[in-house]
Amino acid sequence: MIKIKNLSFKYNKDFVLRDISLEIKKHDFIGIIGPNGAGKSTLTKCISGFLKNNKGSIFLDDKLIDNYDKIELAKRVSIVTQQSYYEFDFYVKDIVLMGRFPYLKFWQNFRKSDEETTENTLTELELSHLANRRLSELSGGEFQLVMLARALNQNTDILLLDEPAAHLDIHHQIRIFSILKKLNEEQKKTIVVVSHNINLAAEFCDKILILADGEIADFGKVKEVIEENKLSKIYQVSVKVVNNPFTHKPNIVYDYEK
Ligand SMILES: Nc1ncnc2c1ncn2[C@@H]1O[C@H](COP(=O)(O)OP(=O)(O)OP(=O)(O)O)[C@@H](O)[C@H]1O
Ligand SMILES: [Mg+2]
Repeated sequence: MIKIKNLSFKYNKDFVLRDISLEIKKHDFIGIIGPNGAGKSTLTKCISGFLKNNKGSIFLDDKLIDNYDKIELAKRVSIVTQQSYYEFDFYVKDIVLMGRFPYLKFWQNFRKSDEETTENTLTELELSHLANRRLSELSGGEFQLVMLARALNQNTDILLLDEPAAHLDIHHQIRIFSILKKLNEEQKKTIVVVSHNINLAAEFCDKILILADGEIADFGKVKEVIEENKLSKIYQVSVKVVNNPFTHKPNIVYDYEK
């Protein structure tokens, strides 16, 4: 579905992504992990077509990302970035409704069906009570959930999410990842999610990509990638992989004394 071939990217002088080749298949649920500054956000922005002028090529269904027009691409790929900033202090219900924008003709107003879809999305993310609040009146976690709601409302088959659970409490972290899992399993959506929470990624994702210093350090099934020596080296923290007694997925614990 998405093929990345020898992708390199630099903002200024130095390359922050180097020679990345990667295939994201339809229905994949991939977690991207790796240290701060490794290039995770840059990679998601390149895949979404937001950052251009990279070396190498990114194909979506055998067509170069750069050759898609904006609206066409917005029907296929949605992205939630790590930092979002809005010039105008929108109402929550309006910002989520804007996710439907790619489906309108240029002369068309939002339709009744767009408003219904928006209400359903707000309910699904337990956000209905915030519908009439303005963005400036939200907590950090609420704002993050609203950004996710907007992306889900766009109803694309590919979702790129950059740390969607970073400001969330454990109930909402698990809820977000459960919703993503359901979308992946029931609607066959392709999901790429950046997370610093390695255990959450190991629990819910099918594959893990480790980015370190602009390069792919590993990519594969969760059980193959979540490995203590590798993670200890990459993060320079002593970790041990244990078995989650509830789910039997590999989880990591840290040796805080080393
Ligand atoms: N707009 C920018 N201009 C210049 N350099 C940038 C810009 N954005 C990011 N960088 C640099 O590119 C490198 C990769 O940044 P990126 O944001 O992709 O890392 P990341 O893996 O997402 O990190 P984090 O876990 O902290 O979010 C870093 O060295 C960062 O300083
Ligand atoms: Mg980032």
